[in-house]
Amino acid sequence: MTEKSISFFVHQNLHSLARRLLKQIPAAIKKGQLYPLDHPYFVHSLQLVQETLTALFKYRSEVTFNMVENELYFGDLALVEDSINQRQFIEKFEQRNISSLTFLPGVTREELLGFMQILGREAGDGSEAATVMNKIREKNITNIQLGTVILSEITEGGREPVKFDSLARRQAQGVFFGSIRVIKQIINEVENNQKFSLDKVRHVVSDIVGMVNKDDKYLLGLTTIKNYDEYTYNHSVNVAVLSLYLGQLLGLNREQLSLLGEAAMLHDVGKVRIPNEILNKQGLLTPTEWQVMESHTVEGAEILNKVAGINSVSLAVAFEHHLHYDLSGYPKTERLKEVNLLSRLVTICDVYDAATSLRVYHAPILPAKVIALIISKKGTFFDPVLAKAFVQMMGVYPVGSLVRLDNQEQAVVYANNLNNILRPKVILVSPETAEQDPDIVDLEEIASQSKGFKRSIVEALAPQAFKIEVTKYFYNKR
Ligand SMILES: [Fe+2]
Ligand SMILES: [Fe+2]
Repeated sequence: MTEKSISFFVHQNLHSLARRLLKQIPAAIKKGQLYPLDHPYFVHSLQLVQETLTALFKYRSEVTFNMVENELYFGDLALVEDSINQRQFIEKFEQRNISSLTFLPGVTREELLGFMQILGREAGDGSEAATVMNKIREKNITNIQLGTVILSEITEGGREPVKFDSLARRQAQGVFFGSIRVIKQIINEVENNQKFSLDKVRHVVSDIVGMVNKDDKYLLGLTTIKNYDEYTYNHSVNVAVLSLYLGQLLGLNREQLSLLGEAAMLHDVGKVRIPNEILNKQGLLTPTEWQVMESHTVEGAEILNKVAGINSVSLAVAFEHHLHYDLSGYPKTERLKEVNLLSRLVTICDVYDAATSLRVYHAPILPAKVIALIISKKGTFFDPVLAKAFVQMMGVYPVGSLVRLDNQEQAVVYANNLNNILRPKVILVSPETAEQDPDIVDLEEIASQSKGFKRSIVEALAPQAFKIEVTKYFYNKR
């Protein structure tokens, strides 16, 4: 065995021990809650923790877990949660702002027992890090240490309130509807074989890139407008906006974002060549009609191929955006062995926008369900890395989702929280303040008394069932 392979082996072993310990600790805490402390179940689970720690001390002088932005790390390894016990254990730490847990080599069985008791029985769920630490000190536990984070932005009762900015909303509307006018004009020009206004596309793309770089939240919110009658126009702009937010999250530079925006905006231009009776057919398409529908990809590339100065990426995206990551989609081609990165990116945004829109042939699917679908198809339809980034960007409850909170309030998701995809910022749905000056709350806000989260999402709701128009929170018609 070479030195390199020995070190690889040690590394793997270390990580699997750390993962094991992370399962054993919450399991022991649970057993300590359920059984007397001398019960064989509890004694056994405590013994397992001790054995794993002993094994880890062969490699490390201390065993430390760190909490960084809601993820638990052992050294540089992010430990993937794979059980509910583990999630609850991590949440207990998060709620108390505990940022690290360290075991020192001298740790005794008594110390472990005391620690399990404190976390399981003595420290209530609402108790702070300081209370837990005091109890650890009282029990003379010296070989188990906790670290805390001081979150400067968290003040008594929560973070700085988020302000609704009506000027920013107006600016976003200007860019959004300006883009729709331009794509409408382009489609008209193609239909009538007129000169293609590529400059205008580039101009609006540059406006969108500017807003995305400012991290404007309203523009993303406007993608919740799904114009039923003029679907292709809104869809093209929505896909461009979503793609650019995703591109920015992935670290593309301004030049790459411009290429991406142009390509996304024009991805469906080939639909101009598809007869309306097929495009808007109610019910299933026949195999021949499907063939015609699928040809919008090839038609799109052909249309763009004739445009002077067009970027080749735009042709690739028009051609490939239904091809899928595993090439199982259409158009069938022997030539390609891999789909262009930007096509893979547009594909995800395209599916998301199409699935969440009302069409003649399907009702809109809840954004949260489409996110689940995207996750389920990562690695086959969708590039796994890009799909993961998209979910990170949109959250589990994407912008524009109507949700029910645990205090029975209803809210519309306003902005995702990249650090915790389950805790976005939301607009509280209230008939009095709805459009003018809505209340935006941060679901990471901590309640001053219980020290737990003030509000949490319980489920996503169908806005139609509650006659709530989510777009009005992002779009002021006056
Ligand atoms: Fe398409
Ligand atoms: Fe599309």
